[in-house]
Amino acid sequence: MIPRADCRELLHSFIENDALRHHCEMVATAMEAYANSLHKNSTEIDEWWIAGLLHDLDWEKYPDQHPNYAIEYIFPKYDLSEAIINAIKAHAPGRTGKHPETEIERYLFACDELSGFMHAVSLMRPTGFEGMKPKSVTKKLKTANFAANVSREDIYRGAELIIKPINEHIQFLIQVFE
Ligand SMILES: [Fe+2]
Ligand SMILES: [Fe+2]
Repeated sequence: MIPRADCRELLHSFIENDALRHHCEMVATAMEAYANSLHKNSTEIDEWWIAGLLHDLDWEKYPDQHPNYAIEYIFPKYDLSEAIINAIKAHAPGRTGKHPETEIERYLFACDELSGFMHAVSLMRPTGFEGMKPKSVTKKLKTANFAANVSREDIYRGAELIIKPINEHIQFLIQVFE
């Protein structure tokens, strides 16, 4: 499997935007933390981290074909497992037709939109993630004009997919990001 440093190099070669790079790093960190909490082995932990890091690889250059461009033309050139590629497919079921089923697929779906949303919440707070409470996130989820481009439906569906109350999922990610 491709080493982490090479993954990051690949990410930087396709994505120049700092906010998008940061989003990818956040999702990778969230996935790694969940993999650890689920006692995955070291290969699986790497897979979860890589799936998080590379899930939006083609978003900047090929937004209309995301993530199908990466799946068809980029990933085959690298030593990435089926598990990683399927997870990336399943983070965008509406575009790929692949729904999240396996654990890595369900967790990637669950971490993606919520990480983005929580980042937006952290920017509104002087201390960022530090001292953030799940309630401050759920309150913003109910505020339709806050981060309006983030799909609330996907966030709630993600928590359902990993069979966690939304507050618990948020609390876990607060600890990861602070
Ligand atoms: Fe995406
Ligand atoms: Fe994403």
